[in-house]
Amino acid sequence: MQSFRSLVQQFEERIIAPDLFPQQPANLYDPCRYLLSLGGKRVRPAACLMANELFTQIEECAWHAAIAIELFHNFTLIHDDIMDKAPLRRGFETIHSKYGLTAGILGGDAMSIYAYQHLSFVEANFKKVLAIFNTTAIQVCDGQQMDMDFEQRNDVTSEEYIEMISLKTSVLLAASMKIGAIVADASAENCDKIYEFGKNLGIAFQLQDDYLDAFGASNKLGKQKGGDIIANKKTYLHIQALLAANATQLSEIESWLHSENNAEKVPAMLQLFEATGAHTRCREAVEYYSQKAFKNLEDIDVAEEKKRHLHALAVELLNREQ
Ligand code: IPE
Ligand code: IPE
Ligand code: MG
Ligand code: MG
Ligand code: MG
Repeated sequence: MQSFRSLVQQFEERIIAPDLFPQQPANLYDPCRYLLSLGGKRVRPAACLMANELFTQIEECAWHAAIAIELFHNFTLIHDDIMDKAPLRRGFETIHSKYGLTAGILGGDAMSIYAYQHLSFVEANFKKVLAIFNTTAIQVCDGQQMDMDFEQRNDVTSEEYIEMISLKTSVLLAASMKIGAIVADASAENCDKIYEFGKNLGIAFQLQDDYLDAFGASNKLGKQKGGDIIANKKTYLHIQALLAANATQLSEIESWLHSENNAEKVPAMLQLFEATGAHTRCREAVEYYSQKAFKNLEDIDVAEEKKRHLHALAVELLNREQ
């Protein structure tokens, strides 16, 4: 069994291979190479490979699936950064800021199609893999639309929020693991159990992402700190702040939503998140979904010893700072 680090190291060589994209047109593929070369945690491909290795030895099919998943993830990031007007990603300029909107739109499109090309190299249980990949891809679109729609609302419930992040984020982590298991020909029960593990872990992961956007260290985040506050995202922090706010705090939150003075808005909202206890509620929610995930992992019917690295990955993700 291989650790997260060891798998990421091997994966890195494949995902930055010079022939992953054509050389021309350079204005289309240089931006794609740029984003992939900036790294990222490679959580989803590693999770796919680790899930695969729970049931079999990792073979070429699983590597192709892992590449397809990381390409798809990077495509969603390119378009997400356009939608979120984000200037920074992985510590560097976002594609649309550096190369322009055309590079962002078309580079994202091309990367999603290359993702499918790599998926087509998966021979084991291909039809099942394609079906879950398609379902997941459309769920991510649904979740991203909900995320954008919520910017215009101030009555989003915690339940709606959890549904939105399940779609935009957690189903891809869940599907990454399930695809690894399907390629390994694992039983239907084990495939479903590992999906549940990935789903709850993914919810905790996005809650942590929201938390770091607000309270993370700028030098570790690699993104614009407070970007969610600036965009009026209805994060768990925001929703919990509204639920616990007194009348004065409520009207303060309302007025910041209409403010474009970001230099004052961000620290003021952070202070409100702390004063209302929203930051503590967010930590508790990360813990709650992590515990559910760990329970799901226990339920998977393979020797406990084999689950060691997946367990370590989950622990690492929940304590991450970037
Ligand atoms: C960012 O994903 C988008 C979310 C779903 C929160 P990651 O935090 O996995 O980004 P990278 O790939 O490590 O940069
Ligand atoms: C992004 O969520 C989810 C997808 C890319 C599908 P966020 O908008 O919170 O991700 P970051 O914070 O920009 O990485
Ligand atoms: Mg974003
Ligand atoms: Mg977004
Ligand atoms: Mg975020």
